[in-house]
Order: sequence, then structure tokens, then C-alpha cells
Amino acid sequence: MVNELQQLTSINGEVTPSDEAMLPLPDDGLLRGDGAFEVLRVYGGHPFALAEHLDRMERSATAIELEFDRGALEREVGELLDRADRPDCLLRLVATRSGRRLVMIEPLIEHPPAVSLATVTYSPTNILNRVKSLSYAANMQATRMARAKGADEALLVRPDGTVLEAPTSTLFWVSPSGSLRTTAVEVGVLDSITRAKIIERTDVETGEFPLSDVLAASEAFLASTTREVQPVSSIDGQEISTDPSPSTSEAADAFAAALGDELE
Ligand SMILES: Cc1ncc(COP(=O)(O)O)c(C=O)c1O
Repeated sequence: MVNELQQLTSINGEVTPSDEAMLPLPDDGLLRGDGAFEVLRVYGGHPFALAEHLDRMERSATAIELEFDRGALEREVGELLDRADRPDCLLRLVATRSGRRLVMIEPLIEHPPAVSLATVTYSPTNILNRVKSLSYAANMQATRMARAKGADEALLVRPDGTVLEAPTSTLFWVSPSGSLRTTAVEVGVLDSITRAKIIERTDVETGEFPLSDVLAASEAFLASTTREVQPVSSIDGQEISTDPSPSTSEAADAFAAALGDELE
């Protein structure tokens, strides 16, 4: 029998069921999206790549001059997961401007086997670029705009036609020359942890690429904590083959190997 997921939240170490968790106001984390967050995956009670997520959260916090107690947050992750029954779930970590640390157990998101994308023009802000701040409303709106066009997810493209990423995942594609490509972090995309695991174990060309390169791709996929590796079936209605897709399979195997190494 599968145990029901216990949706618990810890606020500065105080644990309650998530639907009873109360956040005292004022807190600019809520009122102005002023804070930092992370979402990581828990496999059978083990938080995958916790150190990398905490490292990135520290970088995000530094970028917006936000102090948070990493040691306390890490302890609270352990304490919260000890209260749950070796869950398969997501874990959301939040640090707010008023000094609150949240750790939330969330259910996994069910993603379809393949995803269709619609391009959405997006200009990254210089200040928050590459920062996982709580100000994610633009990313969420981009997904709604893509859905209004009949696609599952957005592909963010700069006004000059440079490909960025999806609102909560990284895009990889196989260029007409046959190389697996993704946008370089320096271009202004998030330093995705899933992306890094794939790059560590496969040949990937990173750089600044135009949308035309992606539209000519023989394969494409999204990579993220919640999606792992998810094939892309079309972009702006233009179909991309998902079968066979050797580079996508290779990336999925590379990610599975990273997971296997850590969970061993
Ligand atoms: C903008 C953006 N790009 C990429 C990703 C994927 O990052 P990760 O693999 O660390 O989950 C995320 C994750 O939420 C994101 O918000």
C-alpha cells in the first residue's frame, strides 16, 4: 500500500500541516516577492543534490543582499523529512526578507511524456537575472501565455531572437550539425542543477544561439528537478521527432547515473 504523502511545512523549525501553516505579516517575502527559494526532489526520503541547491540558494540570497541561516535550514530539512515516511516528493525551501525559513513538503508534479512549447518574448532583468528570487510572476505568466496559444509550456526568447530557457526548466536540443546544445549560463539563464548533471556526463555545446537553430533541431528536451528529462514534441506548432531520440535517451541515462551515484 502506498502511504499518503504528509504535506508538512516547517517555519523556522515549527512544523505544522501545510494547510495550517501561518506566516506572520508584514513580510516582504509575500508582499513584494522579496526572498529566495529552491525546489528539490526527494527520492524515498533522500533529498537529491541538497548541497547544490543550498549553494545556489546562497548565491541567490547574496545577489539580493538577503541573510539566511544555511545551517538552520539544512537541519530543518532533515527534521522535516524525519517526520515524513521516506517520501517521494518535492521540497520547497524559502527564505523571506523578514528572516523566515520555510521548508515545505509538496506532492510530485505529473508531467506528460512529451511537451509542446510556444515561444514567448522575454527580456531578463539585469538585477534578478540567474537569481531564484520569489519574484517568479513573469515566469508563471509566460506559461499561461504559452497555454493560451495551445502549447504546454513557454520557451523564453530574447527580443533579439536568442534562445533562453523555459520558465522553470532548461532547454537542450540537437542542432542541424548534430551537437547537443544548451544556452550558456552567461547568456542569462538559471544555473540548473539537472543541466549541470547532464553536462558533467555528456558532450554538450553551450553558447548563445538563435531560435532558428532550435527550430531546425532533430531533437529537443527540457531538463529540471521536477521534469528530469522530458522530450519536446513541438515548438510553435512545428513538430520535432521524439522517436527515435538518441541524444535525449543519452541525457536521461546520464541523469539517471548521477541520481544512482548519489542515492547509492
Ligand atoms: C528559470 C529556470 N530554469 C531552469 C530550471 C531548472 O533548474 P533545476 O534543474 O535546478 O531544477 C529552473 C528550476 O526551477 C528554473 O526556475
